[in-house]
Amino acid sequence: MTFPADFVWGAATAAHQVEGGNWNSDCWALEHAKPSFFVEPSGVACDQFARYADDLAILAGLGLNTYRFSIEWARVEPEEGAFSQQILDHYKRVIDACWTRNIQPMATFHHFTNPRWVARDGGWAGDRIADRFARYCEVTAEALGDQLAYACTINEINLPDSLEELMSRVKTKYPERVAAGEAAMGAPIESFFLFAGLEGYTQRAVRAHHLARDAIKAAAPHVPVGMTMSIQECEAEDTDAARSAVSAYKQRVYAPYYEAAKADDFLGVQTYTRMRFGADGKYTRRPPQGVELTQMGYEYRPKALGAACRDAWAATQTPIIVTESGIATQDDDRRRAFIRSALASVSAAMADGVDIRGYVYWTLLDNFEWMSGYAPTFGLVGVDRRTMARAIKPSAVMIGEIARANGLDAAEKSADRVLSAGAAVGVSDR
Ligand code: BGC
Repeated sequence: MTFPADFVWGAATAAHQVEGGNWNSDCWALEHAKPSFFVEPSGVACDQFARYADDLAILAGLGLNTYRFSIEWARVEPEEGAFSQQILDHYKRVIDACWTRNIQPMATFHHFTNPRWVARDGGWAGDRIADRFARYCEVTAEALGDQLAYACTINEINLPDSLEELMSRVKTKYPERVAAGEAAMGAPIESFFLFAGLEGYTQRAVRAHHLARDAIKAAAPHVPVGMTMSIQECEAEDTDAARSAVSAYKQRVYAPYYEAAKADDFLGVQTYTRMRFGADGKYTRRPPQGVELTQMGYEYRPKALGAACRDAWAATQTPIIVTESGIATQDDDRRRAFIRSALASVSAAMADGVDIRGYVYWTLLDNFEWMSGYAPTFGLVGVDRRTMARAIKPSAVMIGEIARANGLDAAEKSADRVLSAGAAVGVSDR
């Protein structure tokens, strides 16, 4: 199982989850509401705002060739129309630090968080979001765009649609958290991306993507631009009700974005598990007894990735980059098995003609897993929460070996190289 010579091999992060101190964002306000939907605040996260160069040295030392990170809107445009040159310069240094280490920078312009003023302006529930977002993309792309290898507009643009039902139940169940969150943000809870999947969201989001893509393309015509989508394998029991529930779900949550992605340079596919629809046509949130679960409570289902790529390709014929795939577990052997199996499903899809250009693991570092806080560990690299010391896991070494060899056979041989690779990048092992 070999991959093309220019295959993208990377690891991803998002600003709010790793940088630390993102206090001007709506998410920070929600984290500090009392009571809060978040089990703990993000605080210093992984202190990557200061430590990005060390983290890039780890990534390069492993053998990966791409770093997916996000540019934080709340930092770049802290108040409406007031753009921070200081912060744009910071991200320029991050991008330069990538190229210096032969790493291709893949930047995401929106990864869940907004500046507080955007939330107060209506956020993703308001009609001005697309123009606000496009202006930030325009300014950012003018400053940095032509130095990027890839640009992603909106991360998991369809996530609000897929969360709609869950979030409306959560809102009813926890009215005090809603009230405290709204008071902290000074805005309705639906302004926050994860709660925004109401009437009109899809049109707003597609428009925001189009405007953002045009703005980035205008500043950097040669840079491939795409959105990323949350796409899970959808499995129906053998009944009409289940089958029609799957097609209704795909029609609502995937189809409008697949349509929009047809004109893009690539589509970012992000897959974590399989969704099962029962005989009665209902989505069964809890997998059946006996099924292995990850720390997130998801079914362990690495092969869902190949299925998601096949679905996206059939609908769009747009080249795919896997921009996220990963597992939250403390058992790094399971992570290694997950990566190998996910990649085998990618390779099988490619053999069947699906155009997949890269694989980016979620995530480089154990980091702030949104409402779940720091307990779930998706990272290839551990982070000591007290000292911030990084610890390379065997799965990181394995994925680096696969990347260097451009093939899966390398995975088998990598285990004994864990210690030497740790030494090579100057980081001690656990
Ligand atoms: C998001 C990440 C998140 C990951 C794991 C994706 O939905 O893009 O920010 O940490 O899944 O839950």
